Amino acid sequence: MALQLNSSFTGASSACLLHRERSRRLNVPVVTCRQGNNDDRSDAARQQKSPSLLDRRDMLLGLGGLYGLTAGPKVLAKPIMPPDLSKCHDAKAPALDNHCCPPYNPSETISEYGFPATPLRVRRPAHLVKDDQEYLDKYKEAVRRMKNLPADHPWNYYQQANVHCQYCNYAYYQQNTDDVPVQVHFSWIFLPWHRYYLHFYERILGKLIDDDTFTIPFWNWDTKDGMTFPAIFQEASSPLYDTKRDQRHVKDGKIVDLKYAYTENPASDSEIIRENLCFIQKTFKHSLSLAELFMGDPVRAGEKEIQEANGQLEVIHNAVHMWVGEPCGYKENMGDFSTAARDSVFFSHHSNVDRLWEIYRNLRGNRIEFEDNDWLDSTFLFYDENEKLVKMGDCLNPTKLRYTFEQVPLPWLGKINCQKTTETKSKSTTEMSLTRVGEFGTTPKALDASNPLRVTVARPKKNRKKKEKQEKVEVLQINDIKVTTNETARFDVYVAVPYGDLAGPDYGEFVGSFVRLAHRKKGSDGTEEQGPKKKGKLKLGITALLEDIDAEDADKLVVTLVLRTGSVTVGGVSINLLQTDSTAAI
Ligand code: C2O
Repeated sequence: MALQLNSSFTGASSACLLHRERSRRLNVPVVTCRQGNNDDRSDAARQQKSPSLLDRRDMLLGLGGLYGLTAGPKVLAKPIMPPDLSKCHDAKAPALDNHCCPPYNPSETISEYGFPATPLRVRRPAHLVKDDQEYLDKYKEAVRRMKNLPADHPWNYYQQANVHCQYCNYAYYQQNTDDVPVQVHFSWIFLPWHRYYLHFYERILGKLIDDDTFTIPFWNWDTKDGMTFPAIFQEASSPLYDTKRDQRHVKDGKIVDLKYAYTENPASDSEIIRENLCFIQKTFKHSLSLAELFMGDPVRAGEKEIQEANGQLEVIHNAVHMWVGEPCGYKENMGDFSTAARDSVFFSHHSNVDRLWEIYRNLRGNRIEFEDNDWLDSTFLFYDENEKLVKMGDCLNPTKLRYTFEQVPLPWLGKINCQKTTETKSKSTTEMSLTRVGEFGTTPKALDASNPLRVTVARPKKNRKKKEKQEKVEVLQINDIKVTTNETARFDVYVAVPYGDLAGPDYGEFVGSFVRLAHRKKGSDGTEEQGPKKKGKLKLGITALLEDIDAEDADKLVVTLVLRTGSVTVGGVSINLLQTDSTAAI
């Protein structure tokens, strides 16, 4: 099984030496390549490589730095670093029979990641490969072999699934801390970490069947024909099958509900399809001008008290997890992060998430989302297909990782009627029942499913000019969100224009949602524990939305928070202007 490690890469310019200085202080040797301000840093890096550095066995690579020498190492740089693998904590999740720590081998060497020199692998839509018997046979065989590996083999199907549990169920604390967990959700780490996870998973599967063109299909849930549970995972005798799913959804061509909250959407199929496409369209449209709205907020090493904010792509993705997993109990497998990756469809789902990130990048001219060393130097560890612990370099360009996606139509990018044509618009205010709605005030409020929270929120500025809008995006922000149980929580956010101080009966336009999956943890005494819970926040871009609903001249907005499931308190609602990082628009 041992293949030669592919060490075609290392960006080792003098910049790296500087960086190593810093790394030594952090006790983790890190090398990054940092040249140019595009994704092709590694080419330049190859030309500059220094052979002496290639010999180091303990090198780690970051996401790929961008900053120039002049910037120097940031004194306060705090990229998330891989944990100390010898210190895996019991992350027992009630749904797992065993804790999810991997077998630890102290003599395992951590080696550098080399960009593969394999053919470009093309990931295809799951609903379109279902008639490609040859491909399906390979896929099933690869997963079958993965399941048949010894239980403690790092490539074993369940060991691979445990990797996901380790990084979201608090199995590891960040280096030099004893209480700050490594968490790969709810922040700007979410998309890169899952990209790497899939990348290695795909290569391992390919290796098991000796096929370096093998790819994980993507569950193309952003198009009508892909909005049902992919048939290839439904055959009961197949290794791709999983019993722990919501059978009502995965059978019989049910349309996935991207706003799912453990209640069935009573709308017709075509209406749910339209709502899904609109949700995706809005997500892109509202977040193209600022990456954190799409990808999530920064998280830096050692930070404890920050309010996590996931991007809207993660929010959409959460609904798919919930919709696939069992509706009750521990929501296994997909509905709880500790077990999610035990269902093969997880990887197809994430393949699509990864693809949507790539489309987002393309729409923004492939500019780097966060020109911030703490993002670019974030460092992860994975088992590669050679049974080594490896650490990733630049993940921003899938072509460097030698994969791409089959091009398929993007119906959500086209013209769809997404604005509500509210009846209230045509009615005069005397015909409507208007209610008085006040400001949020200063006391936190518990959301109540039967009585949505409605508040008026002042806008910092109205009637902004085009240029101002290009420079700053208007963001609706919900602060101090506390999910008060270990259960899934979701609320949806709507905005409307008030009539003076009064609000119409209609909640107005859907803007986006907050979602936390169930996150359960069993303590050493076997009872369920409340995991460390950070407060969260939700940021939703509304510049384009206000144009769409003709609200540019409103002084304030009525914001409505509709609790869909779970138990949540909210500390405040505000509207702010944030600096954009792109002028891209759709
Ligand atoms: Cu790590 Cu879909 O979640």
